[in-house]
Amino acid sequence: MEQQRDQWKSKFGFLMAAVGSAVGLGNIWGFPYKMGMNGGFAFLVIYLLLVAFVGFAVMLGELALGRKTGQGAVGAYIALSKKYTWIGYMGVASGFLILSFYSVLGGFVGKYMISFLIEMFSPGAAFGGMGSGEFFGAFINNAGGSILFHFLFMIITAVIVMGGVSGGIEKFNVVAMPALAVMLVVVIIRSVTLPGAGAGLAFMFAPNFAAFKEIGFFNVLKTAAGQMFFSLSLGMGCMITYGSYLSKKEDLEGSAFIIPISDTLMALLAGLAVMPAVFAFGMEPTGGPGLLFVTLHTVFTEGLTGFIGSLFGFIFYFLVLLAAITSAISLLEVCSTYIIDRNTSAGKSSNRKTITGILAFIIFLIGIPVCMDGLGGGNIIGANFWFGKWCFLDFYDLISEGIFMPLGAMLMSIIIGWVIKTKVIKDEAEIEGNKLKFYKFWEICFKFVVPIVMVVVLIGQLQGFGIF
Ligand code: PHE
Repeated sequence: MEQQRDQWKSKFGFLMAAVGSAVGLGNIWGFPYKMGMNGGFAFLVIYLLLVAFVGFAVMLGELALGRKTGQGAVGAYIALSKKYTWIGYMGVASGFLILSFYSVLGGFVGKYMISFLIEMFSPGAAFGGMGSGEFFGAFINNAGGSILFHFLFMIITAVIVMGGVSGGIEKFNVVAMPALAVMLVVVIIRSVTLPGAGAGLAFMFAPNFAAFKEIGFFNVLKTAAGQMFFSLSLGMGCMITYGSYLSKKEDLEGSAFIIPISDTLMALLAGLAVMPAVFAFGMEPTGGPGLLFVTLHTVFTEGLTGFIGSLFGFIFYFLVLLAAITSAISLLEVCSTYIIDRNTSAGKSSNRKTITGILAFIIFLIGIPVCMDGLGGGNIIGANFWFGKWCFLDFYDLISEGIFMPLGAMLMSIIIGWVIKTKVIKDEAEIEGNKLKFYKFWEICFKFVVPIVMVVVLIGQLQGFGIF
């Protein structure tokens, strides 16, 4: 039974949706704190190299596979060969794991947004005179509150995905993404004009590779690689899924550049918003996952003050929330599309709403432990529960962006470079008259660069488990 597959309504709509998937908490929350913990400049350089030599190619590969097969993550691999099915499953599993902690973080953002809204009208009512670190600490240890906001975030995401690709997702992104960029620039202006902000700029841009010695080159590399996959929504079939809704007329090669470049610019903007403020307020760049929340809270309460500070805080978190939702949508979409495609190929019709609702509920449940361990500090569930090493968030993150995504990207590249051959990507890209201009570059990336870099990253990752 053939079912008409939805398509993006316009080129701009698709790009916005893809950029909307890519730009999210990975850029705004993940990038600054991972850069902070991995030596600033050294991390930035490795990150940019990875985007250039791995990110662009994996993006092109995923979009092309999706469009060629017209299938989501699992279906696309099955269409190539049944023996690759598990690569697709790895992607769907990553989607599940990522969304389950992503939604908790999205809930945090929602709670900050509401807190600033309350502060606008009754100063002190939300923060109660607490410093930003103290507020954050109290906040992550309130498991009930976190679960509630996690639940709300999942509901919003599910409702939008139920609307289908062009109805729900597209409209939403067209407004949210540009608005966020503008707001980030506003925060940057405040951040870089704080006294002492220069040290933060130097941390990001003054050449300094000390981190390779102190933290270890492989540790910086594997963190940057995981961050890159996460931030670009690559390695788990998300862009395969989005590509499957793409019209044959679209220029795949152009998109493979534009999406990563936009995403990287947003990450840089977020870094510029956070790092100068970290140094200006005498905080530690190595502050970890709380860095964004603690630092920007201080920017909005001390850098800017009073009503204006709360107003800007509210608008900022509102836009971050939108960015998080547009990414969460794509994560849920990978999971829903998998089930819908599976039903379609089995000749069954699917109810998108029911499927999405059930999946969202399961993901909500998987995310609950993340709300209960105080990000590793221990609350209802003891400190660093997983082997005494990881909190739930880290653990889910490690399995997905640390292992499944580099592995997925590596296997896809090997399949493209060596099994079906890069020519297949060229044919798909050129199907309606577009020209693939950098064929040699893509071929070298698929055949050599991506697989080799990914092997190094995966070995580094296994070391972290104490396996090597
Ligand atoms: N790229 C998103 C972000 O940076 C997260 C994401 C990962 C979305 C993987 C889809 C797939 O926040």
